Amino acid sequence: MSEIILGIESSCDDTSAAVLEGEYLLSNVMASQEVHRKYGGVIPELASRAHQQNIVPVVNQAIADSGVSIKDIDAIAFTRGPGLLGSLLVGTSFAKGLSISLDRPLVDVNHLQGHILSHFIREKDKPYAPPEFPFLALLVSGGHSQIVKVHDYLNFEVIGKTIDDAVGEAFDKCAKVLGLGYPGGPVVDRLASEGDPVRFRFARPHVPGLDYSFSGVKTSLLYFLRDMLKSDPDFIEKNMKDICAGFQATLIDILMDKLLKAVRLTGIRQIAAGGGVSANSGLRSALLKAGEKYGWSVYLPPLRFTTDNAAMIAIAGLYRFRSGIVSGLDAPPVSRALDYK
Ligand code: KG4
Ligand code: ZN
Repeated sequence: MSEIILGIESSCDDTSAAVLEGEYLLSNVMASQEVHRKYGGVIPELASRAHQQNIVPVVNQAIADSGVSIKDIDAIAFTRGPGLLGSLLVGTSFAKGLSISLDRPLVDVNHLQGHILSHFIREKDKPYAPPEFPFLALLVSGGHSQIVKVHDYLNFEVIGKTIDDAVGEAFDKCAKVLGLGYPGGPVVDRLASEGDPVRFRFARPHVPGLDYSFSGVKTSLLYFLRDMLKSDPDFIEKNMKDICAGFQATLIDILMDKLLKAVRLTGIRQIAAGGGVSANSGLRSALLKAGEKYGWSVYLPPLRFTTDNAAMIAIAGLYRFRSGIVSGLDAPPVSRALDYK
């Protein structure tokens, strides 16, 4: 029988637990926190309180859904970072307590590696075609935007990253100024799909190498709206779909431009997207189009594995556990991006 791994994710505002048997997913339970919506963004203190309320029922449910007994778990994988410290503390402390009570090893997981390795989660009766090593991961989430050269399950090399905002943050901030609520990415995506992406253009930054910048696009949107609202106070309502389409197209152009460069520099044509923004329909179709045009093999995660989930933590934990990596009870949560190891 393959290893049974329990994964626990609590880095931001989703409490999640999942059980894997080898690469096969047995269960994946998620509790999202609605409490943040009315504030237009995640409130760290409220997030950690909600994790405290959710963690026990979520883990219990994941074990019940999996059909295995809690005693069958071979290792407990948990997100050690990056993320909100108060949120991470809940999952980390719970994982440690469980590790002591079950007498099972702990495996710490870098949340970003989890997003990337989500391509390797297997589901019964579903097609399975993960990327081949080495591949380039376009990691796009609410907290990070990176291009990562993935040599194998344990060897990650960041070759490009944002120098300011993450792309998901840019989507969320755009939605906020347009009055579309939080999280904004999915709403902007839906409205953009009905808008004209070339009617309004926003500034594209000039950043050397493979690094990104997204804060200038947001500022460009703010100035644009400020000017337009002077002559027409209803400008946003009247043009919402086209504004979203133009803004989204700009972000996608920036991402695709650097990805193209990364392919040229590395010669790697296996491209795998990951992270919350990889759910974006415009980005998904831009990647598929580029794949056809340039002969890339493009891997898009199923939508359920794009945003934060514990299945991705369990799969990353599985490969670490298989290679003998376990973590001590003294491993602290870390809020900043850990070096990829
Ligand atoms: O990976 P994730 O769940 O959390 C982090 O690790 O940050 O990503 C969340 C981000 C949010 O910024 C959210 O607005 C964005 O992913 N997102 C989207 C879409 N779905 C989620 N952005 C654009 N289009 C979407 N369809
Ligand atoms: Zn994430």
